[in-house]
Amino acid sequence: MIGGGQLARMTHQAAIALGQRLRVLAVTPDDPAAQVTPDVVIGSHDDLDALRRAAAGADVVTFDHEHVPPELLDKLVADGVNVAPPPSALIHAQDKLVMRRRLDALGAPVPRFAAVTAPADVDAFAAGADTALVVKAVRGGYDGRGVTLARDTAQAREAAADFLQSGVGVLVEEKVEMRRELAVLAARSPFGQGAVWPVVETVQRDGICVEVIAPAPGLDDDVAGAAGRLALRIADELGVVGVLAVELFETVDGGLVVNELAMRPHNSGHWTMDGSRTSQFEQHLRAVLDYPLGDTTPLAPVTVMANVLGAQQIPTMSMDERVHHLFARFPDAKVHLYGKAERPGRKIGHVNVVGAPGGSIDDADYVADVRNRAALAAHWLSHAEWTDGWDPHDER
Ligand SMILES: Nc1ncnc2c1ncn2[C@@H]1O[C@H](COP(=O)(O)OP(=O)(O)OP(=O)(O)O)[C@@H](O)[C@H]1O
Ligand SMILES: [Mg+2]
Repeated sequence: MIGGGQLARMTHQAAIALGQRLRVLAVTPDDPAAQVTPDVVIGSHDDLDALRRAAAGADVVTFDHEHVPPELLDKLVADGVNVAPPPSALIHAQDKLVMRRRLDALGAPVPRFAAVTAPADVDAFAAGADTALVVKAVRGGYDGRGVTLARDTAQAREAAADFLQSGVGVLVEEKVEMRRELAVLAARSPFGQGAVWPVVETVQRDGICVEVIAPAPGLDDDVAGAAGRLALRIADELGVVGVLAVELFETVDGGLVVNELAMRPHNSGHWTMDGSRTSQFEQHLRAVLDYPLGDTTPLAPVTVMANVLGAQQIPTMSMDERVHHLFARFPDAKVHLYGKAERPGRKIGHVNVVGAPGGSIDDADYVADVRNRAALAAHWLSHAEWTDGWDPHDER
């Protein structure tokens, strides 16, 4: 796997059960995945020599991020390396303009968009209207970096000029009036088998995903079914191999538009580690190894994932002690820590809380209770502070 972050770390965890060894190409021996697999190649994902060393003798090469330059991927393919997803598919997760154009051509719903090669293109797109616009660097963004939500055309023009100045391609699109953000995760094997998990709701704060509710509460069955079919169709049409995440916006009138694609395990699928028969990490491996895919049935009426983000003020209490206290209060919380140093806003882990049997996704109190416990747990792990004022000594 190219990249040694938490996605590679959790993929390695799944690889163990399949009798596989996951070699990772990591930047440092301290990277989350490099800490846990014995098979580490140290190097950069934009160094062909490092990529070749990582690929040597591997059955298949896959990714924990989309930042490997396409021309290097083509070289690996020319070497005879089995690259999954293939570069021809992966480009749609690497370049937002290529993705928008292709999805548009497939008839998939996307926001109105245009390529920007000069700041004046933004004015042409706005066509005289002074409106909120979204300007995006077409490559290299993550966690909302490379995305500017501009309040008016002037601000959008400025953002476009800044991106262009730094030499990156740019696109402008309408700001979608949305109810909420959703995601649908699918997997496709080279054999052509497809599998899809239920549509989830993703809650973002400051451009970072903080919470995922699986399945998305209150989502119309027809809309959910259509989203699943859309993800499978995109996977097929693009020739995806592995997990495909389709980030969606639910518009104010209840329709769906595609935001972006990822072709790897995705934050919106972390709930599957504890809330589904098959986790996204196992499924990604099954797909790239061309095994039959696993059952994606949820194990509970609702599963909530809350990200543990590094606090502004890193607590003096050690993480070990925080985990200790957390488990004392919530024995059923499933903790996944990435072995990363704590830095403000950094994703350092997540917590899954699986709803008790007998509840229903349509029961607002039941869902709110699971969400609340996941949020309390994640905040405790990052801040060493119970937001509801809970005190263990009151329990005695
Ligand atoms: N057209 C749009 N209209 C409204 N909001 C948008 C639009 N495009 C993006 N956003 C908001 O900005 C966030 C980040 O956008 P996007 O997913 O394209 O960025 P990213 O940094 O590549 O992704 P990620 O955070 O998934 O790594 C979205 O989750 C959404 O909240
Ligand atoms: Mg996104």
